[in-house]
Amino acid sequence: MMSNNNHAVIHVSEVTKVLPMGKVKVHALRGVDMNIYAGEMVSVIGPSGSGKSTLLGLIGGLDTPTSGVIEIDGIDITRMNEDQLTEIRNEKIGFIFQFFNLIPTLTALENVALPIQFARKPKFNPEKRARELLELLGLGDRVRHRPSELSGGQQQRVAIARALANNPPILLADEPTGNLDTESGKVVLEALKQIQQESDTTVVIVTHDTHLASFSDRTITLVDGEIISTPIQTSA
Ligand SMILES: Nc1ncnc2c1ncn2[C@@H]1O[C@H](COP(=O)(O)OP(=O)(O)OP(=O)(O)O)[C@@H](O)[C@H]1O
Ligand SMILES: [Mg+2]
Repeated sequence: MMSNNNHAVIHVSEVTKVLPMGKVKVHALRGVDMNIYAGEMVSVIGPSGSGKSTLLGLIGGLDTPTSGVIEIDGIDITRMNEDQLTEIRNEKIGFIFQFFNLIPTLTALENVALPIQFARKPKFNPEKRARELLELLGLGDRVRHRPSELSGGQQQRVAIARALANNPPILLADEPTGNLDTESGKVVLEALKQIQQESDTTVVIVTHDTHLASFSDRTITLVDGEIISTPIQTSA
């Protein structure tokens, strides 16, 4: 049998996630299969509660599935312990959360430098790298600002810079334009696209924003914990 998953950076097979909710169980994912290939930008869309964040969290090793297999670069992460997962996350994955999760007491520069300082084998000088990324995202004149001194769009770009700090091969973004106006959303989107193309980063974006989805190479639709559509070719 021809196997497709040799080159898949992210391979998801028969993944389910059952969450306890009081006395009942929520079937957040009901058997998801998908492959995402190196350098792709893929959007995951679907109604609220359809399992998008759950799926992204599983791919990012923030949680483990109830059943099924998730491979990152051919390595099954579903059997890993917390330490091993942390290592995979640090080495391979940048995560942009639905809410920015910036540290309020740190400046933009310090927020971005932090993951480099935490890396087991840092690849960059934290301050230099943080400055370069903030400049790339158009925030060169905001490095000393704290999150409360930045606009929503600027905070989101700091969060993107932080997710990119260790140059992860995989970037996962949950609603990166969710709380932004059209103009800030566009800046964020263009930054993501630029980074994907320049660094050949594999990008998975969860979004409600069909405009954002149309920027990606491919869209996957989740409804009620299941993928309902095969890849749709989007036109530019
Ligand atoms: N910790 C939890 N405990 C119980 N149920 C949960 C938990 N987290 C999520 N769920 C349920 O799992 C389902 C999927 O949630 P998920 O957050 O993945 O949806 P989503 O597609 O990201 O939605 P949104 O677009 O609103 O962010 C929902 O029905 C939700 O209520
Ligand atoms: Mg969500």
